[in-house]
Amino acid sequence: MHVLLTGAAGGVGTLLRELLPPHGHTLRLADLRPVEGGLTFDLRDTDAVREAVRGVDAVVHLGGISLEDSFANILGANIQGTYELYEAARLEGVKRIVFASSNHAVGYTPLTGELIGSDTPARPDTYYGLSKVFGEGLASLYADKHGIETVSIRIGSCFAKPRSPRMLSTWLSPTDCARLVHAALTAPDVGHTVVNGISANTRAWWDLSTARALGYHPQDDAEIYAAELGELDPDSPDATLLGGFFTTL
Ligand code: NAI
Repeated sequence: MHVLLTGAAGGVGTLLRELLPPHGHTLRLADLRPVEGGLTFDLRDTDAVREAVRGVDAVVHLGGISLEDSFANILGANIQGTYELYEAARLEGVKRIVFASSNHAVGYTPLTGELIGSDTPARPDTYYGLSKVFGEGLASLYADKHGIETVSIRIGSCFAKPRSPRMLSTWLSPTDCARLVHAALTAPDVGHTVVNGISANTRAWWDLSTARALGYHPQDDAEIYAAELGELDPDSPDATLLGGFFTTL
């Protein structure tokens, strides 16, 4: 597939630039920051976004602010920016989007020991998480009204290696991320589907059945890093709430 990758200069974008082509995809890269061989654009710029999506088969939408920020900044990059992307897709006839949602859309979900499904209700922990709830809602609207299908991936923590004891539960390895994005691009008849995005972690908090139903078969487990990361402090929000310390911001 010919795929537009927004946020291509970012952490996950840099990983997927290498890891998606082996799954058979050709990438068009775009970011606010310059990225080699790619477009420099602002997601808030209607015309630039429309030009970026023109002619592709699908979009992997990673672009935007990826941490907590002022409401004004989140409103521009994440809320307006995601709207501009979906409108451009509608006008250009692009029928599949993979949306990088987040655990922070459901960050106030308590950790009870039961696996949490991808159908757990929205409980954003920040304006950032709220923008991911908006993105999931927008994806639902455009699926029902305009037939633009989306898989919203609630990403846990996608880094080369887990960086904290919490990430022993939330890690999505780069190669599993590429597997999940590939499944989300190619599974038939997804309408709007929300999936949890983690590796096959021994300490997983999330149920992966919806992702597996799309054809995702995770291969990695954060547990191999357990000895170097230590244990969670049982009294910290990292141990009691899905969104961890974001609930304290
Ligand atoms: P990042 O912050 O490294 O990359 C985001 C990219 O979006 C940056 O390169 C930035 O320049 C670009 N961007 C920001 N505003 C823009 C605008 N107005 N127009 C065009 N581009 C803009 O974030 P990362 O870690 O790569 O995450 C990628 C996506 O996945 C984000 O949407 C993030 O919210 C989501 N996510 C990531 C997680 C992780 O563990 N890395 C966890 C959960 C969700």
